[in-house]
Amino acid sequence: MIRLESVRKVFPGATAPAVTSLSLEIPEGEFVTLVGPSGCGKTTTLKMINRIIEPTSGTIEVGGQDVLSIEPHLLRRSIGYVIQQVGLLPHRTVEQNIATVPRLLGWPRDRIEARVAELVEMVGLEHEMRDRYPAELSGGQQQRVGVARALAADPPVLLMDEPFGAVDPIVREHLQMEFKDLWRRLGKTVVFVTHDIDEAVRMGTRVAILNIGGVLEQYDRPEEILANPASEFVARFLGEERGLRRLGLLPVSSATLERGPVVDVSAGPTEARAVMDRHEVDWVGLLDGNRLLGWVPASEIGSTPLRDLEPREFLVRLRPDDSLRRALDAVVTSRTRVGVVVGDEGYLGMLDVETVAEEITE
Ligand SMILES: Nc1ncnc2c1ncn2[C@@H]1O[C@H](COP(=O)(O)OP(=O)(O)O)[C@@H](O)[C@H]1O
Ligand SMILES: [Mg+2]
Repeated sequence: MIRLESVRKVFPGATAPAVTSLSLEIPEGEFVTLVGPSGCGKTTTLKMINRIIEPTSGTIEVGGQDVLSIEPHLLRRSIGYVIQQVGLLPHRTVEQNIATVPRLLGWPRDRIEARVAELVEMVGLEHEMRDRYPAELSGGQQQRVGVARALAADPPVLLMDEPFGAVDPIVREHLQMEFKDLWRRLGKTVVFVTHDIDEAVRMGTRVAILNIGGVLEQYDRPEEILANPASEFVARFLGEERGLRRLGLLPVSSATLERGPVVDVSAGPTEARAVMDRHEVDWVGLLDGNRLLGWVPASEIGSTPLRDLEPREFLVRLRPDDSLRRALDAVVTSRTRVGVVVGDEGYLGMLDVETVAEEITE
């Protein structure tokens, strides 16, 4: 969908190229994150794709067409663009901002209105916000408007330059997850610039790690980069929590779950004690068929039928699509030192530190 071939950019008067010689292929429908330290040429690269900046040499193609052969204003209408500063027009309402490109394209009024209504909903804004001005919105809401505006004319390609950089961490995580969901539904090709490696590996289907001068250090699936950093630079850039980040990308369902120390409430106390002995633990999980009721400590298991005990809640119940990072957190914060996994069909099993670690041990 997007192809860069030996792309170079030297700004007038600069001593070193901002981008030395970058070649990169971005297949259709991928979510590619460009990540690297400040000043490594991420923004310059992005802006060369929609010709806000002209390359000094090299070739850039979008959809098989050389971008230098397309009128810049036409090119920009066919590529959505979102930046950190949002760039909303302050004296235009939310509705007018979102409608920018459709208006330039001369769509009829009712089509524009219908499209704005659809987009407002799609990015999770309230309909009554359509008449507000950007200054009357929170940072997160402004970013949503920015995304809606970029999607307005349904462009196949979306360029995003640190789009969630200015919002606080909680809103940011929210926007990241929502946007990833939106991307899954819309099937756009996305190029997403960030300096945050966590954001890069969480969002990207492929991650391009750039060094100063736009030098491509590694371009691969996030799991692969975290498992096998191609260079010292990449390893250092990934930082100290590489293992945790890898766990963040793996679902609980990829681990081998064990049934663990559980008994059915219809069992007798003797059987419950036997299960605890076998697993060398001082608690037991109680099941009612497939339904996980909770757990009871060994001290409460005497002659009382299990059914009459008051089981304690497992504070975290993991779902199969939760990450192993979340699972690890559940394990280390729980009294029982396990994470229990429950799906739509009921209890699926549990995992402990060993199980989690096995998933990232080569
Ligand atoms: N318009 C410009 N004129 C001169 N130098 C620039 C211009 N824009 C960026 N640069 C320089 O090019 C390099 C790459 O910048 P940029 O692409 O903005 O990096 P990033 O987005 O990765 O932080 C930096 O050294 C920056 O100072
Ligand atoms: Mg930048």
